[in-house]
Amino acid sequence: MKLSAKIQAIAGSQTVAFTALIQQLRREGREIIDLAVGEPQFDTPTSVIDATKTALDAQKTRYSPVNGLSELRTQLAVQFNGCDIDNILITNGSKQALYMIFQVITDPADEVIIPVPFWVSFVEQVKLAGGKPVPVATKNHQLNCEAIERAVTQRTKAILINSPNNPSGAVYPLTDLKKIARLAADHNLFIVADEAYRAFVYDGSVHASMFDTACDRNRLIVTRSFSKSYSMTGFRIGYIAAPGQIIAALSKLQSHLSGNVCTFAQYGALAAQSLDGHLLSARQSELQQKRDLALQYVSTLFDCIQPQGAFYLFPDVSMVLKNDETSEALAERLLKQAGVAVVAGEAFGMAKHLRISFAVSEENLKNGLERIAEAL
Ligand SMILES: Cc1ncc(COP(=O)(O)O)c(C=O)c1O
Repeated sequence: MKLSAKIQAIAGSQTVAFTALIQQLRREGREIIDLAVGEPQFDTPTSVIDATKTALDAQKTRYSPVNGLSELRTQLAVQFNGCDIDNILITNGSKQALYMIFQVITDPADEVIIPVPFWVSFVEQVKLAGGKPVPVATKNHQLNCEAIERAVTQRTKAILINSPNNPSGAVYPLTDLKKIARLAADHNLFIVADEAYRAFVYDGSVHASMFDTACDRNRLIVTRSFSKSYSMTGFRIGYIAAPGQIIAALSKLQSHLSGNVCTFAQYGALAAQSLDGHLLSARQSELQQKRDLALQYVSTLFDCIQPQGAFYLFPDVSMVLKNDETSEALAERLLKQAGVAVVAGEAFGMAKHLRISFAVSEENLKNGLERIAEAL
């Protein structure tokens, strides 16, 4: 039996595929240091676990409103100037949020501009919505607003902005976000802003959100997540802030897709919301120290731009590639020879690069980077 052309046209998530390979090698008895991980090593906060258990004990185990618990939506709305509960939708992680957004805003052949490097799922999600991803090069991982404007055509529907960026760790300054806001207004485009890593920015800087610009709120769709900030990746709680009309359309889609998001997990998210800022700032400074340590090691091997956010290094590895070796082949070589998992740049639209996560224990970070150095 033939599967749909739509599903045959997309690639599986390479980061997820790599996780399966690591698990297989571990089953075979290999000791693998995983620097490919897309989640921080911190524990989920105890108060989140406790609130989730309490919700389970209280039988919060049934269907709940498709849009999410109203207490949670009300609290989240406060983060977004001018928004109220009708502007918030709770989703199964921000991954599903982004999938639904492209389904809702894209007609066949509509184009979505995506700065390179990009998180693996954007391109495939746009394709699944029938749209056409339009990758646009960045300058030293920062937005090239002129190149973005040159890429706009009659078919452009949206610009995707991911800051802090996975995989580069680039954090875009407010001045550039304002330029994107103006550009979107000039060409009547949506802006889809993925802010999943906003809790992790370094060197005393503060994350600039598209919501900090004067961007016309009718064209602004922002996704955030509890996953990375609170080490709640398995809870699958993300959310969208958008105009009420778009939230209503997304909610209609979600009602046929998953219905509500796991009810008791949303109580865990409510508890995360009431944690004070100390937890996040302590995690942020620990990650900054690891970034510095990792950058020091990696800079002796490759060219690497210092990431200002997220928890990845994304070095240019051209100088160590043998003959016509790809970074995919290099990642495989490092996994098999050194027992260290990293992700090849091809997955993020940028060959000759590797993504190295520093959100692991200091011991694993040091050992993993030493093993890479030895193997090279
Ligand atoms: C840039 C980016 N956006 C969104 C997500 C989705 O995260 P979640 O669905 O756990 O919220 C990820 C996960 O790795 C990511 O890296």
